Amino acid sequence: MPVNKMAPCSPCVKAMKTTALLLVTSVTMLTPGLSGAMGDATSGSLGKTERAELVRLVRQDCGSCHGMKLTGGLGTPLTREALAGKPVESMAATIIHGRPGTAMPPWKTLLTEAQAQWIAEQLIAGFPEETP
Ligand code: HEC
Repeated sequence: MPVNKMAPCSPCVKAMKTTALLLVTSVTMLTPGLSGAMGDATSGSLGKTERAELVRLVRQDCGSCHGMKLTGGLGTPLTREALAGKPVESMAATIIHGRPGTAMPPWKTLLTEAQAQWIAEQLIAGFPEETP
C-alpha cells in the first residue's frame, strides 16, 4: 500500500511561506531609511539619489501639512526666514520625535537621524527644489 510520506501538509507549507515573508519584511525594515545610494564621498554622507528622495519626501509628505511651498498650512512655515536662528539639532529632534500634543508626527520609522539632520540643515538654509 503506497503511502507518500514526503507530501508536505498544506498548513506546514503555509507556515513556511509566512515565515519567509516575515523574514523578507524584517530585512527590508532593517535597511536604514530610504533606499538611496549611500556614501557619495564628494558631498556629505548622503548619496545623490538619497538626497533627491529626501527632497521629494519633504516636498510631498511634509508639504501636506507645512504647505507645498513650505510656507505653512496646518504646520508652521519651514522657510529659511521662519527658521532663522533656530538650532539645527532641535529641528532634527522635532523631525525624529514629532511634537507631542501637536499634529507634528514623529518620523523615526521612516528617517534616520542623519537624514533628519540633513533635512533640518536644508530647511534652515532654504530647502532645495525637486530635481525632475
Ligand atoms: C500631520 C501634519 C504634519 C506633517 C505631515 C509634518 N508636520 Fe512638521 N509640524 C506640524 C505642526 C502642527 C508643527 C508645529 C508644532 C508646534 O506647534 O510646535 C510642526 C512643526 C515642525 C517643525 C518645527 C518648526 C519650528 O519652527 O520649530 C519642523 C522642523 C517640522 N515640523 C518639520 C517637518 C518635516 C521635515 C516633516 C516631514 C518629514 C513634517 N514636519 C511633517 C505638522 C506636521
